[in-house]
Amino acid sequence: MRIGILTSGGDCPGLNAVIRSAVFSGTRLHGHEFVGFRHGWRGVVEGDTIDLPLVRVRGIAKQGGTILGTSRTNPFEGPNGGPENIKRMMADKGVDALIAIGGEGTLAAAQRLHAAGIRMVGVPKTIDNDLSSTDYTFGFDTAVQIATDALDRLRTTGESHSRCMVAEVMGRHVGWIALHSGMAAGAHAILIPEQQVSYEQVASWVMDTQARGRAPLVVVAEGFVQEGEASPHSYRGLDAFGRPRLGGIGEILAQEIEERTGIETRSTVLGHIQRGGTPTGFDRVLATRFGMAAVEMVTKGQWGHMAALRGTDIQAVSFDDALGSLKTVPEARYREAEMLFG
Ligand code: F6P
Repeated sequence: MRIGILTSGGDCPGLNAVIRSAVFSGTRLHGHEFVGFRHGWRGVVEGDTIDLPLVRVRGIAKQGGTILGTSRTNPFEGPNGGPENIKRMMADKGVDALIAIGGEGTLAAAQRLHAAGIRMVGVPKTIDNDLSSTDYTFGFDTAVQIATDALDRLRTTGESHSRCMVAEVMGRHVGWIALHSGMAAGAHAILIPEQQVSYEQVASWVMDTQARGRAPLVVVAEGFVQEGEASPHSYRGLDAFGRPRLGGIGEILAQEIEERTGIETRSTVLGHIQRGGTPTGFDRVLATRFGMAAVEMVTKGQWGHMAALRGTDIQAVSFDDALGSLKTVPEARYREAEMLFG
């Protein structure tokens, strides 16, 4: 079979490990051929491909990013979008099936294309770890490690200056990165989208920490919203292009803490550093196993399925069972962490 691979949505450490293992196992075990679609669904709708022989994927498992490029293009939009155009493009390129590597949005598009008759399997990807069908997604462990290292560094400069340090980490809808990095680094408060907490409560944890002679360390996920508020962002006038300037939650929180406690406070946004660079060993192995599993699904004709980690096993789960609800941080996991705050 001739199999097309694409990486779509935000990039994530481990994408290249998936591509490498799919090409290796598909070529060596089954005699498949591979083509890569460039820049996610954009390459699919535009028919922008590169061949993926073994030699092109050797040694890439440790590389961050994706050798194929990615985008947030919606394959149902534009003059060349939609299932019928994509089927025509696949026929032109001699592509029999697609492996889509992506998060909830990418896989939901893959599900719709599968329903329209395109041979499709999926590989889950997100640093946020918010896909409900799999115990872990690759990229998450790397992001947690990067955030933990950053928190350890913020702690020492905070201690030197007797300041409160606030770190804003990624997580629009879920707080897994904040929870895990905060627990690993021994943060004095962790704030996540799933749990509404008041600024008063945060200030009280910060004061308790300072009263014990320590420099408070606070981790906040970008999607956190204070109890009773609708939006995590504040309006801060217009920028040079006339667009609203929005302050991120890390900065807002730092100001609130300083005003309420009188403790000098600094905020740092870790941003895309959490998604860049080499994947951890755990993520390389998980991504490698996902790539092999996707090829097995294609070979068996398990269309409309994606790879998932259940315990230590990799399983095929149907898109219909896998998608639709995000895996949020359970209340009990937050309470475990909260017991250590202050
Ligand atoms: O979904 C992954 C993610 O890293 C989120 O945590 C973050 O909110 C978002 O992507 C950032 O997206 P972009 O790279 O488009 O700014």
